[in-house]
Amino acid sequence: MSQKILVTSALPYANGPIHLGHLAGCYLPADIYVRYQRLKGKDVIHIGGTDENGVPITLAAEREGVSPKVIVDRYHKSIKESLEEFGIAFDNFSRTSIPLHYRTAQDFFVTIFKKGYIFPRETTQLFCSSCERFLADRYVEGTCPNCGSGEARGDQCEECGRWLEPTSLKDPRCKICGTSPEVRRTVHWFFSLDRFQKQLEDWLSGKPDWKDNVRRFCEGWFRSGLEPRPITRDLAWGVPVPLKEAKGKVLYVWFDAPIGYISSTIEWAENKEEADLWQEYWSSPDTKLVHFIGKDNIVFHAMVWPAMLMAHGGYILPSEIPANEFLNVEGEAMSTSRNWAIWLPDYLKEFEPDPLRYCIAINAPETRDADFTWMDFQARVNNELADVLGNLVNRTVAFVFRYYQGAVPRRHRMRSEDTNLLGEMEETRREVGDLLEGFNVKKALRQVMDLAKAGNRYFDHSKIWETREKKPDTCETSLSVLLQLMNGLATLMEPFLPFTARRMRGILRTELDGWDEAG
Ligand code: MF3
Ligand code: ZN
Repeated sequence: MSQKILVTSALPYANGPIHLGHLAGCYLPADIYVRYQRLKGKDVIHIGGTDENGVPITLAAEREGVSPKVIVDRYHKSIKESLEEFGIAFDNFSRTSIPLHYRTAQDFFVTIFKKGYIFPRETTQLFCSSCERFLADRYVEGTCPNCGSGEARGDQCEECGRWLEPTSLKDPRCKICGTSPEVRRTVHWFFSLDRFQKQLEDWLSGKPDWKDNVRRFCEGWFRSGLEPRPITRDLAWGVPVPLKEAKGKVLYVWFDAPIGYISSTIEWAENKEEADLWQEYWSSPDTKLVHFIGKDNIVFHAMVWPAMLMAHGGYILPSEIPANEFLNVEGEAMSTSRNWAIWLPDYLKEFEPDPLRYCIAINAPETRDADFTWMDFQARVNNELADVLGNLVNRTVAFVFRYYQGAVPRRHRMRSEDTNLLGEMEETRREVGDLLEGFNVKKALRQVMDLAKAGNRYFDHSKIWETREKKPDTCETSLSVLLQLMNGLATLMEPFLPFTARRMRGILRTELDGWDEAG
């Protein structure tokens, strides 16, 4: 059986539109990777959807005074449409508020509950006496016990990335009314993460080439020792805990959300009317499971989720977790709550997708945070997309139309500069392939641009405007080499700039080649 590749992109919360941070963090690198694998002829599917449970949703609903359903319907639609328009090609884009997902998440819970990895425990929880309710996760804010940031949320500190419990915050306050909450006793169900520490350590030690950011995070966690984690919440919105004794409680959103990868794959198979097909992806040891995420999601994907999969049994574990750092805008971290972001729907009202795909990919926050500025956008569009790529295509095509009626000129004897350029193209294809296999999008795109630059140098040196009259054979050969280069570039660019690549194939009147046969 041929190897399958199951690619997922982190499920964005359906509490706002997509912004550039999401795109740079996972959707664009995932799409580039998937398009590349598809060109290679690989059996690859890209699975996604919106994360529609949890406090991020209920808080947004309360802020607007509408039901959570109104919020998730609105933003599921917005997110799905804008990603589509941006060319992010999903095989299935689901949502975690549908019955299929509820069932899948509940079955998952019951399976590991029956295996003894989930247990109830009386705990203390923060209760707001003025709102008269328990404050789950982001309903509490306070000072981070780890780094001292004054704006830590009850579930996680954005400053240092530490996963928190609301009761561990110093000076906690209710997010809704600002009251300082009291501590009350309640029962929650816990997942025995601690029992998987050894297995997780062994598993991760088999991943020496994973990115540093992921490895460092996990090593830190192992050092402080894993503990059981509460996986239920007192909320009126979400997947009900499938236990009689847990009435009124829902699954913690970070428990059900990654199961969304599975339910979305099930939905994909059902839509294809091959209901069992999803299992071939999730259970076959040959499948390569790749989770694209942003760095704030590392702990869940590299530790909690694999432990859940181990506890459940019968599923494969992640093969790769390419986690990107953050993209800032004009030097400042993006933030939905401070409304500091570039929203994809706004961008798409003004511009085409490819210029932004280009700018994000060439400046991808792969090993450290990167910055997006409009100045840089303008400069790159003019100096790189227009001057390098556009120029090569325009002057070659214009010449062929003007003097050869748009027909591909014949190829005569090849000189070394001709074979060198085509050799460089082969070499670039190999290098870009290797780089993309290793998730190095930025370097890969630079190689493609270097090839286009080499094409421009070749154009200048070939002096076709002189050879056309004096040495017509040489001129025809140069043009046929340039056109072959452009066709090769149209394939090389397809993962990064699919709209431009398609336009180029339209001009050349060629079909999309496979990656290996390209050129
Ligand atoms: N909604 C989460 C976030 O935006 C990501 C969830 S990823 C998945 O940070 F694992 F839950 F799917
Ligand atoms: Zn309150």
